[in-house]
Amino acid sequence: MRVETVITVDGPSGTGKGTLAQRLARHLGWHFLDSGALYRITALGTEAAGIAPTDTAGLCAFAARMDVAFATRFAGSIVLDGAEISDQVRLEESGAKASIVAAIPELRAALLQRQRDFRQPPGLIADGRDMGTVVFPDAALKFYLTASAEERAHRRYKQLINKGVDVSLRSLLRDIQARDERDSTRAVAPLRPAEDAIIVDTDTLTADAVFALACQHVDARLGLRGA
Ligand code: C5P
Repeated sequence: MRVETVITVDGPSGTGKGTLAQRLARHLGWHFLDSGALYRITALGTEAAGIAPTDTAGLCAFAARMDVAFATRFAGSIVLDGAEISDQVRLEESGAKASIVAAIPELRAALLQRQRDFRQPPGLIADGRDMGTVVFPDAALKFYLTASAEERAHRRYKQLINKGVDVSLRSLLRDIQARDERDSTRAVAPLRPAEDAIIVDTDTLTADAVFALACQHVDARLGLRGA
């Protein structure tokens, strides 16, 4: 059986991994998995359904049956059980809620096959925390993006201020550090680079420079130059 090629892009939030993953997917004309959105949607959907984050069986049952139509964040809208929830999914607090349910091993297991199902022709770019380590350990190419918490908070601050959202840099930094801590110390699928990942420190790189660097690796390793 032919197994479709996967490129994984992992790392903490604010490193530019979502931007890189989306650009690579467009460039190659491949599918795109935004795994963080799955955790965000599970957190929001269960909250709306009155299922407590401590109710593991309830969370898993929800994750197994939820009807999620979200081709991608770049395609625009995310629809859960018929309701459009894109804006809510992207809120900072939804990321924080996601990281709480994401620490539950049974829930991660319940979402595993759903993520693997995105592996369709002609190929997949998978964006997340454990794409290269757990979900697609056999990926052809693995990127792991890093950046200091200060730089990530600063980028997020600029994004939100530009959108007219009133936030404090200090509280963003605190939230990012708390989320990093929770994501890296959890027992299952903690945030860490795969042994065979290419580590890219984006502190001093523009999004264009990160994309150009990634394309060089894609070309060198897979002989793919894009559509
Ligand atoms: O990437 P994003 O910020 O959307 O992810 C939200 C949260 O979902 C992360 O902080 C992390 O706790 C969780 N997550 C995860 N595994 C993934 C993707 C996201 O645990 N593959």
